[in-house]
Amino acid sequence: MPLAAIAAKEGTPVYVYSAAVLRERYRAIDRAFGAYPHALHYAMKANSTLALVKVLRELGSAADANSIWEIEVARRAGFEPAQIVFTGVGKSQAELECAVSLGVKAINVESAGELSRVEAIATRLGRTARVAIRVNPDIDAKSHPHISTGLKINKFGVPIEEARELFDTLASRRALTLVAIHLHVGSQITTIEPLRRAAAVATDLSLHLMQRGLPLEYVDLGGGLGISYDGGEIVSVQEYVDALVAEASRTSLPIVLEPGRAIAGPAGVLLATVIDVKPRTAESEFAVLDAGMTELLRPALYGAFHQIEPVSRRADADGRQYEFVGPVCESSDVVGRDRQLPPLAVGDLVAIRDAGAYGSAMASNYNRRPLPPEVLVDGGAWRVIRRRQTVDDMMALESQ
Ligand SMILES: Cc1ncc(COP(=O)(O)O)c(C=O)c1O
Repeated sequence: MPLAAIAAKEGTPVYVYSAAVLRERYRAIDRAFGAYPHALHYAMKANSTLALVKVLRELGSAADANSIWEIEVARRAGFEPAQIVFTGVGKSQAELECAVSLGVKAINVESAGELSRVEAIATRLGRTARVAIRVNPDIDAKSHPHISTGLKINKFGVPIEEARELFDTLASRRALTLVAIHLHVGSQITTIEPLRRAAAVATDLSLHLMQRGLPLEYVDLGGGLGISYDGGEIVSVQEYVDALVAEASRTSLPIVLEPGRAIAGPAGVLLATVIDVKPRTAESEFAVLDAGMTELLRPALYGAFHQIEPVSRRADADGRQYEFVGPVCESSDVVGRDRQLPPLAVGDLVAIRDAGAYGSAMASNYNRRPLPPEVLVDGGAWRVIRRRQTVDDMMALESQ
């Protein structure tokens, strides 16, 4: 990708995405299913920038939205309500009313209380709400604790025993149609076992319901497939899909997946400029970047690793050890620890890799830093798909 040219024109920090990688990552998961019926609902929480969502819709993707505002973006990207599943542990009354009125493919319900709220809204509106019940299978995703969601102590979903009790009530609840069992045990999962076990739980519960005459439409196995941020070996897309199909095919139901990171993560880099270099320890220096936790929160939030590379390499000299930090007034504003790189100088451009998912989507205005622009490289050309925020944009909501 023409990173130096983009940085020269748009300045840094700037997110740059490859449409080719985005498409290939989507197609890799799609292809892995072979003839088995399935639908990929791209998890917009990973990155919901309109142009990227549109690229995926054009490939045949459906959408997984985590708020009414993500549903709105999905609609603006051209998705029909019947292509949207609505997830999220805390859906407000307004959000539920909107989802029921729209008639989304499913509201993935997270508690008995939420199911009752959906029922009351549907009854009042004279509609039938399509719901999936998100079960909490009490499975350790073996990912970082902050992005593991499938243990009983996590806030997500309905415990299996309670879910079974809820199922018993469904036949008499005329305003609700149960379309699927849903689960999602975490993100950045790099081994097959938790994913396979979760699929087995969803399959067993679906079979249980089908045997009792409830005509489910699909089984929703969530997202969670990890990517290799550091080049280490992780479960392949094919191994992942094969394991899910092996389990879910016991029901013959189509599989719905909600992949986010595995599609968008490798498609983006964050470009930053070195704005200062200063001594740290006898062995290492600080490289202060113009991008930090405000642009890419993941390293500060949960010690996430992103490869950092110089955009143009200096041919000379041995590598040096750098602590890459951002400009934000927090000691946790570290982008990369203990990295061995060719010598860096002020003004050098670096690329922070695999930043396409949970990067720009988590950016903030802390320290009054404007949201960075985003650029999409597609077929040899590139264009700005979100301009840099200005101070006026930022202050437009405020009054004296
Ligand atoms: C319910 C649900 N589905 C899908 C995803 C997407 O996960 P990932 O980006 O790891 O594929 C998430 C993310 O945490 C989620 O909570």
